[in-house]
Amino acid sequence: MKILKSAKKLTKEVENLKSQGNSIGFVPTMGALHQGHLSLIENANHYNDIIIVSIFVNPTQFNDKDDYDRYPRTMDVDIEKLKKVKCDYVFTPEENEMYPEEDNREFNFGNLDKVMEGEHRPGHFKGVALVVSKLFEIVNPHKAYFGEKDFQQVAVIKHITKQLGFNIEIVPCPIIREKDGLAMSSRNTLLTTDQRMNVSLISKTIFEARERSKKMTVSETKDWVIRTINDNPYLNVEYFEIVDESSLEPIDNWSQKGEKVGCIAVHVGKVRLIDNIRFYS
Ligand code: PAF
Repeated sequence: MKILKSAKKLTKEVENLKSQGNSIGFVPTMGALHQGHLSLIENANHYNDIIIVSIFVNPTQFNDKDDYDRYPRTMDVDIEKLKKVKCDYVFTPEENEMYPEEDNREFNFGNLDKVMEGEHRPGHFKGVALVVSKLFEIVNPHKAYFGEKDFQQVAVIKHITKQLGFNIEIVPCPIIREKDGLAMSSRNTLLTTDQRMNVSLISKTIFEARERSKKMTVSETKDWVIRTINDNPYLNVEYFEIVDESSLEPIDNWSQKGEKVGCIAVHVGKVRLIDNIRFYS
């Protein structure tokens, strides 16, 4: 496994590997790797000859400086984890490698960033789009793998990939959960023992909501989820929306066409967790 900090070197190596007929699978991450990331790498290994993982805590996607400072950074442990799976390259750029100068490119997300994460974290998707487009320029893989825990992020990345004309297949991968149902996230390591014991209510509630939705309206289902989670003193719901899978427009009636996904963000002290679930159509 090669560890590279230079974008130029990586681009060159990838071009070489491609010219020899290798397919390239790319897994962009911000480190603090957990089983969810490892499952992306495993998926990538099924369909690609060469696997490249990037680790870069991207400052431009944090709308809250404290959140950026607190974000877990565990590079040495991450590298050890990557050595145990099949990963060929790790790209670990410094900030000035990714942002040698201010980059003010603009993106058009249509309506995709008007709701949920986009509404509550202004500028977040611009930062994600900026770093992902730069990483795509550097790596230019055949396929790139993203976890569905960040459901809206996957939609935004698919959109900009098409818009910017990258010939890269975006592969969404299922959420990986802890035994008690908590969606795996690097931020889970920031929870205190008490908080950790209470956060499983988030996934339990949205899973139960899916069952209850058979007998409830959309608005009753939403109210029930928000009330049930907010009844727990450790948890504070920022939003729970039930949206159309493709447009991310909130739905107000179960009979509306298309797949429906319930997306939630919850504050647990200073930590903010997200999760989502597909509803039955
Ligand atoms: O999902 C993440 O970890 C990040 O948003 C990503 C896609 C690596 C961009 O920094």
